[in-house]
Amino acid sequence: MNRLLIQNGILIDPSQRIFEKKDLYIEDGIVKQVEDEICEIPEGTRLVDASGCWVMPGFIDLHVHFRDPGLTYKETVETGCKAAAAGGVTTVCTMPNTKPVTDCVEVVEEILEKAGKAPYTHLLPIAAVTIGQQGKEIVDLAALKEVGICAISEDGRSVMDSGIMKEAMRRCAQLQIPIFDHCEDESLAGGCINEGEVSRELGLPGLSRDAENAMTAREILLAESTGAQLHICHVSTKESAEIIRMAKAHGVRVTAEVGPHHFALSDEDIRREPHSKYKMNPPLRTPEDVEAMKVALADGTLDAIATDHAPHSAEEKTEDLQHSLNGIIGLETSFAISKKTLVDTGILSPMQLVEKMSTRPAQILGIPKGTLSVGSCADICVAAPNETYVIDDQFYSKAKNSPFIGWKVQGRVKMTILDGRIVFQDGKITEKEDLA
Ligand code: DOR
Ligand code: ZN
Ligand code: ZN
Repeated sequence: MNRLLIQNGILIDPSQRIFEKKDLYIEDGIVKQVEDEICEIPEGTRLVDASGCWVMPGFIDLHVHFRDPGLTYKETVETGCKAAAAGGVTTVCTMPNTKPVTDCVEVVEEILEKAGKAPYTHLLPIAAVTIGQQGKEIVDLAALKEVGICAISEDGRSVMDSGIMKEAMRRCAQLQIPIFDHCEDESLAGGCINEGEVSRELGLPGLSRDAENAMTAREILLAESTGAQLHICHVSTKESAEIIRMAKAHGVRVTAEVGPHHFALSDEDIRREPHSKYKMNPPLRTPEDVEAMKVALADGTLDAIATDHAPHSAEEKTEDLQHSLNGIIGLETSFAISKKTLVDTGILSPMQLVEKMSTRPAQILGIPKGTLSVGSCADICVAAPNETYVIDDQFYSKAKNSPFIGWKVQGRVKMTILDGRIVFQDGKITEKEDLA
């Protein structure tokens, strides 16, 4: 039997409203006991001293790109899962813009088979909304659900035909599959990314705020009329946040996520330093938008923090801003950047941070995670909230396209536990041979 006792840590569990010193005893991957102090320790129990550390339900990242199959020079399921573990992330949802697109049972099965061989984090595949992400023919939802997808999404683009999107939502509502939505009206996307702001100075094309806002509104209206469970990805504009706020007040079944880059960085960063590490989709917005993201996180309009972990090779993130690909990695920096920007500044409490990174994402997925209550799975992140360090480029991800290299942060993931087994400790991944 596999026994683990985490002692003297500060347990942060939003599901039980606990923020206090507790011991946590785990047996065969299940949380068995949560007490102020556990004194009777069964023989053979591995002890973990978590003095001064936060002990949290493992983070759940609703939005990552692992590029497998097809673009494995950027990332593989194996390297992506290791990056997750190094970031305290115990469940990831992988986006379907792989090559071929994740639009059928065979590709989902291939991803799940690879995930089975990368036991560092739990992986839940997201399938595309339409075949080949071409916006025409809806995927076979029933078959995909059967094989284990957690949601569908056209991430990277939107389904432009409203009739097809409505039909996809109708089927999602019927089969109870969430729909994760990248909001980008392509007919409005062409202009400069911030319509007259920094992107125009730099001559950068991209997702305009109108393109994001208009599509957010359409999707919410369609979700209301079909009853689908809609989740808005990477919100970046203040108008989008306001639309979601109003929809929630009207009782629409909608949730939303924001990426750390959209509350930690603004277009002033790319103006100051026109570098491809600041190029992503949606793009960095104005300081006013960044403020709006923080307000929306605090008031619950934004439910979750998700990274949009988007690995690219060094060649693809060229010096040439025009031709560089969109996207940044985020799994290994998400906790530290979120803590620095939101908790150290008093915008969110530690409990609210854990809610955004674990408990709410689990609720959105409808899975019994995001909690450390007795009987739940022992997926855990232990982090030292006061440890100060500078983020370097030594990532487990294959990619290095992070704008946060060089940032001084306070808060380091010390240990990640997956189903009661230590998969990451003191900077090192436990190789799978040693996990058995
Ligand atoms: O920055 C982005 N990168 N935004 C997207 O929508 C897609 C993603 C990717 O796949 O690289
Ligand atoms: Zn997207
Ligand atoms: Zn994405």
